[in-house]
Amino acid sequence: MEKSSPAGELILTPDGSRTALSVRFGEAYGSRHGAASQARQVFVEGSGTHRHPAPRVLEVGFGLGVNFRATLAEVTRRGVPLDYLAYEFDPVPVEVLRAVAAGGESADHPAWAALLAGWGQASPLVVQVPGIALTVHFVDVLTAELPRGWASALYLDGFSPARNPEVWTPALTQRLAAALAPGGMLATYSAAGHVRRTLVAAGLKVEKRPGPPGKRECLRAVREG
Ligand SMILES: C[S@@+](CC[C@H](N)C(=O)[O-])C[C@H]1O[C@@H](n2cnc3c(N)ncnc32)[C@H](O)[C@@H]1O
Repeated sequence: MEKSSPAGELILTPDGSRTALSVRFGEAYGSRHGAASQARQVFVEGSGTHRHPAPRVLEVGFGLGVNFRATLAEVTRRGVPLDYLAYEFDPVPVEVLRAVAAGGESADHPAWAALLAGWGQASPLVVQVPGIALTVHFVDVLTAELPRGWASALYLDGFSPARNPEVWTPALTQRLAAALAPGGMLATYSAAGHVRRTLVAAGLKVEKRPGPPGKRECLRAVREG
C-alpha cells in the first residue's frame, strides 16, 4: 500500500512563500504569517548564520526544506560555503517539496535541484555541489547519533512543544547542546518559559529576540566558550 503524505493542504502565506498543514501533528510546518520570513528571522538570523564565514547547520525537522532554501539563499548571496545536516523521520513526497518551493528563493539552485533528484532514493540523502554539502538522515532524532562540538547553528524546528513534546525534553536538549561548537547558536521560534529553562539547564546562554511576523518573541541559545 502506498504511504500517505504527512503534508496536507498547501498554504500561501502573506510574504508569498508557501507552507503546508501537517496531517500527523495538526499544525502548519512553517508560520502562516510568512514561512520564508520566519525561516530568515528565526533560524538564519537567529543562529548568526547570516554572518558566519562557513556555516555548519544542524536541523531538527527538515520538513518542507523552507529553512534549507533560506539558508542556501543567504550563503549564495555572500559566496560562503555551507555544510547542512538535517534529521527527518517522516519525509514528505518530492512533489510537495517541489510545489512548496515553486517560484520561491533558491528553487533554481543546483543544490535544490540535486535534492529533488535524489529525494527518496537513499538514506541518508547526500548532496554535494560546489560550496554546498547537504546530508539528510531519515531517522528519528531521538535515537540518532549526533555529531559533537560540530554545529555553528542549530535549527530546532520539530513542531511546537504542545504538539511534539518529545523534541523539547531535557535529554534531547542536552544532546543538541553538545552538538554545538563553542560559540554555536541554537535558534527556535518558541519563547515558552519551560523551553528557556531547559536550554539554560543544558548549559546554554539564552536570549529573547523579536519574533517573526505574528509572534512577539523567539529564543536564541548560545554555547559559550
Ligand atoms: C515544523 S516542521 C519543520 C519545517 C522545516 N524546518 C522547514 O523548513 O520546512 C517539523 C518537522 O520535524 C519532523 N520531526 C518531528 N519530530 C521528529 C523527530 N523526533 N525526528 C525527526 N524528525 C522529526 C516532522 O516530521 C516535520 O517534518
